[in-house]
Amino acid sequence: MARTGCEPQKFVARTGTRVKRRGGTLLLVMAAVLLRGATDVNAKSQVARGRYLVERVMVCGECHTPRVHGKPDFKRWLEGGPLPFVVSKKAAKYAPAIAGLPKGWSRAQFVRFMETGVTPNGVSARHPMPPFRLDSQDANAVADYLVSLKKPQVRTSAASPARRGDNRE
Ligand code: HEC
Repeated sequence: MARTGCEPQKFVARTGTRVKRRGGTLLLVMAAVLLRGATDVNAKSQVARGRYLVERVMVCGECHTPRVHGKPDFKRWLEGGPLPFVVSKKAAKYAPAIAGLPKGWSRAQFVRFMETGVTPNGVSARHPMPPFRLDSQDANAVADYLVSLKKPQVRTSAASPARRGDNRE
């Protein structure tokens, strides 16, 4: 009698565990789905933040977008071109393409440049490139945004010399 009395309890206990386990798995799956959603949202907001910094705070396009009749050509956004002004004899005359990141630069090299102003060659960019010193989060946001842009189909000849450094005087 005592034995049979125990049976249903055991059963309840076992089913309880099974339900708990299943619940646990379901929770894990839900957490994974939520987490993925959160990562996507984070990635999206990083790109949006980078875009905001590039377009509205640091106005990279003023120099890095080629111009037609003096106005930025938005179809070639951040694809590089001759500067609309000359700052000094020693200053650069061209701003290179940065859409999709500068040619040949890794993401890490670009982030380092935005944080320190030091290019992969170990030099700093010439005037009028501003000596930005972004924090890691902003530098990464700008990188995410630039990576999200298409690399220029045809690199304008104006942009290429700047990248090779042969527009130095
Ligand atoms: C006032 C004009 C100006 C603004 C604003 C500007 N840049 Fe530049 N940038 C230049 C010029 C000019 C060069 C080329 C410097 C040289 O040849 O030494 C340059 C060089 C660079 C380079 C080095 C590329 C290479 O291939 O050597 C990167 C990367 C870059 N800029 C990114 C940016 C980003 C990102 C922004 C905005 C956050 C920005 N720049 C804003 C003018 C500007």
